[in-house]
Amino acid sequence: LNYHVPRTRREILEILLKGLRRLEYRGYDSAGVGIDGGNSKDWESNARSIQLIKQRGKVKALDEEIHKQQDIDLDVEFDVHSGIAHTRWATHGEPSPVNSHPQRSDKNNEFIVIHNGIITNYKDLKKFLESKGYEFESETDTESIAKLVKYMYDNRESDDISFATLVERVTQQLEGAFALVFKSVHYPGEVVGTRRGGPLLIGVRSDHKLSSDHIPVLYRSCSYKLQHPTQDRPGHLSLYACFIRVSKIKRLMWFLICHDSAVIEHTNRVIFLEDDDVAAVMDGRLSIHRIKRTAGDYPARAIQTLQMELQQIMMGNYSSFMQKEIFEQPESVVNTMRGRVNFDNNTVTLGGLKDHIKEIQRCRRLILIACGTSYHAGVATRQVLEELTELPVMVELASDFLDRNTPVFRDDVCFFISQSGETADSLMALHYCKERGALTVGITNTVGSSISRETDCGVHINAGPEIGVASTKAYTSQFVALIMFALLMCDDRISVQPRRREIIQGLRVLPDLIKEVLSLDDEIQKLATELYQQKSVLIMGRGYHYATCLEGALKIKEITYMHSEGILAGELKHGPLALVDKLMPVIMIIMRDHTYVKCQNALQQVVARQGRPIVICDKEDHETIKTSSRTIKVPHCVDCLQGILSVIPLQLLSFHLAVLRGYDVDCPRNLAKSVTVE
Ligand code: G6P
Repeated sequence: LNYHVPRTRREILEILLKGLRRLEYRGYDSAGVGIDGGNSKDWESNARSIQLIKQRGKVKALDEEIHKQQDIDLDVEFDVHSGIAHTRWATHGEPSPVNSHPQRSDKNNEFIVIHNGIITNYKDLKKFLESKGYEFESETDTESIAKLVKYMYDNRESDDISFATLVERVTQQLEGAFALVFKSVHYPGEVVGTRRGGPLLIGVRSDHKLSSDHIPVLYRSCSYKLQHPTQDRPGHLSLYACFIRVSKIKRLMWFLICHDSAVIEHTNRVIFLEDDDVAAVMDGRLSIHRIKRTAGDYPARAIQTLQMELQQIMMGNYSSFMQKEIFEQPESVVNTMRGRVNFDNNTVTLGGLKDHIKEIQRCRRLILIACGTSYHAGVATRQVLEELTELPVMVELASDFLDRNTPVFRDDVCFFISQSGETADSLMALHYCKERGALTVGITNTVGSSISRETDCGVHINAGPEIGVASTKAYTSQFVALIMFALLMCDDRISVQPRRREIIQGLRVLPDLIKEVLSLDDEIQKLATELYQQKSVLIMGRGYHYATCLEGALKIKEITYMHSEGILAGELKHGPLALVDKLMPVIMIIMRDHTYVKCQNALQQVVARQGRPIVICDKEDHETIKTSSRTIKVPHCVDCLQGILSVIPLQLLSFHLAVLRGYDVDCPRNLAKSVTVE
């Protein structure tokens, strides 16, 4: 193999920071790295000390901070090195170097840890550890883990206790959701990772063919009890990348990561860990342990090959990932349909549902549960789902669904729509529905994600990695996936065949129609120059386009920080009309479907209050074009797919508004791509 194996500290840091940059979209308010500290020629003695460098802000700021460090020799070479790095999105403890990860056990950095998730009983742990004399320096829940592992070490019963055993003992005391990676001066060249409810993957790159494509799981029966009382709930989300390299002779690299995009340039071979697996790299070997064997658990973890390619996570010629992802939509919707929709004989096959479709057809109710943009995909397709399945369909925001303790029954089918497949609220709602015996279906964009693994069956939307925090192509692909499901549900009902054919033929032309909408980019940019200094934008519509209003307003809020509201045109006269005057920017969506006349009425009501709405309409709708002062004309499509074409102008508009207002489109303030806290 002719890849270059990093040897110098400079190269090792570069790998860690590059991994972090690939993950930065998931959290970007501070970052940190922990590496071997010494500057001698002997890697093992270097690994007896740890250097921590942390900085508020983006990875770039961390990089600059590293180069300011006087005591780090970047040219020192290592035969073996383990390093851990992390980017953070703070929900508990303000963004600051001391609150960044890695968190440490003590001033000598004996143990350091990076964490994704929340530890709900951290206050009890902290109290316990403080009573034992441990001094805390940060406001994070994670710090209690770093101190706890040191406590386990300081109180070990024998000197040959392994790092993995210590970590096992730590995880037995933790409540909440987490993925963790540890490093210690007491275990040079080793790294240990574990997960419960948070994603953790291991990437492997090796010169040699590994002796097996499975890593066996070793079961141990040890258990360790620490006395501590009940729990509390902080919020905290953070992410990490981790790297290890082992010796010139073996040339082996292991990466412990929370998302595959961090390693795709090094390897496409990964192992997905299960909850409560403890993975340890020692002497270049990976071993996986667990304390107990759960029912149905296969006693090995397969090395799988990722389908992702590096190019998919590069920006190419675009100015931001969001812009790239908007323009990818003609292809991403094709990828969602690929191999699933047969346009010649009007059939739909969804491999991930085939064993359950009969059961789904017999159900009493469909419940679509999601957050943010993914929720809007549910709102957008609810009507056609009701039409084609003839079932009651509820669309629920995961947090509210849980707050209400919504009744769920065994004959319900619950859908979890999530781009990342990791959103904490959606995941908790999934657990809630499973406990009540409902069949669960995942609609996700991330292979191996928690939601895709924990649902009974599902559909991968195959939109490719989405990196811009504001979701665009995932929305249109979720939309298409739900439409395909609706079509599948009624494939043997004779009475709906003409309608099915109409929709399937609509899907056939959809990619070309999306291209046509994207060609409006210049026109929309011009519109943005007229609007970008406004404070507020109202977006109104109804029927199939209510979801477009909500989603368009969310896009504007997320990345432009302007106030924006999606308004159901049917509710206009019950309140929102009071907002309309000649100064208020209003966008209306009027399409030639069964709500057309009602939308025209809404338009008249707005115009009568001196509003001058910008209307997104059908390019053949001469009447609306004639009577409106400003229109964005999109091609016509079958009614239930038209929402895909009406949302794209708003995606483009929000993008241009954000650029004109001078904001970072991909990393909006206070937001993160994947929200793994409640
Ligand atoms: C965050 C993201 C949104 C996303 C939502 C749901 O808020 O910023 O873009 O729509 O989470 O995420 P999911 O991964 O579950 O679709």
